[in-house]
Amino acid sequence: MKIRKAVIPAAGLGTRFLPVTKSVPKELLPILDKPMLQYVVEEAAEAGIEEVIIVTSPGKETIAAYFQPDPALEKHLAAGGDQDLLDRVRHVSSLAEVRFVIQEQPLGLGHAVLTAKAAVGDHPFAVMLPDDIVAHTPGALAQMTEVRTRFDAGVVAVERVPWEVVQNYGVVDAVEVEERVHRIRQLVEKPPREEAPSNLTIVGRYILPPEIFSCLERTPPGARGEIQLTDGLSLLLESQLLYAHEFQGRRYDGGTPLGLLRASLEFGLARADTRDAVADILRGLGSPAS
Ligand code: UTP
Repeated sequence: MKIRKAVIPAAGLGTRFLPVTKSVPKELLPILDKPMLQYVVEEAAEAGIEEVIIVTSPGKETIAAYFQPDPALEKHLAAGGDQDLLDRVRHVSSLAEVRFVIQEQPLGLGHAVLTAKAAVGDHPFAVMLPDDIVAHTPGALAQMTEVRTRFDAGVVAVERVPWEVVQNYGVVDAVEVEERVHRIRQLVEKPPREEAPSNLTIVGRYILPPEIFSCLERTPPGARGEIQLTDGLSLLLESQLLYAHEFQGRRYDGGTPLGLLRASLEFGLARADTRDAVADILRGLGSPAS
């Protein structure tokens, strides 16, 4: 069965980006000229997703505003004859059907996904974290959709990282079943390096069966009162097969200022219209702003 819906949790506090996230949602921070969230919605659309369910919170209304058409702005651009810019502005609201659910309190990623239960219904669906940006064509979700169809089971995106940093991530204990595909035995959140079962770390892309919701309902809150998606997945593993897919492409951590800076520079170097200017900037670096 085709995956039609994707849930994008965007209701977190974004504390690692404070103070800017006092008034600008992290998910709207840009890589060059587009918010991180838009890259992820584009990746969803490319994978055949028809409906995107964004989980937001009170105070993050600008996220919904971003996906609304803006007739006054469009009129202004049309009058100025800037067709290219007009097309880019219109493109945002034409990517997929976008709807919103509200997570009243930031009670964790698992809780955010659970908030979308009624909107998702009784079908397999995708979860995409908007601060994990993957640069590749086809995108990570399109690659995972293919794995899901072949194995007829849930799929979690993973990336190999150097062993020295494994303790910063969710890690899978898994058996390789074919190149780049592993059957998951267990998920371990931020294990000490010497206890890590592998260096395959979880990236924010998942294709999950609807049974995840009853698992999340049974998941007790952790130390900070948050319901973790990883804990819900561990419960799911008791009754369902889950596969880890080492997707092709580079993942950027847009959840931190330096990760976003790196993504901005590398996207700038990859894009034909900005490549030379970014290379010039990099060559000219050395006089710090004071
Ligand atoms: P993070 O773990 O990066 O949390 O969430 P955060 O609050 O955004 O950022 P920090 O850690 O305080 O800096 C990953 C994704 O899950 C969403 C976030 O909006 C982000 O897109 N999320 C997180 C929710 O929707 N609700 C939550 O309760 C927690």
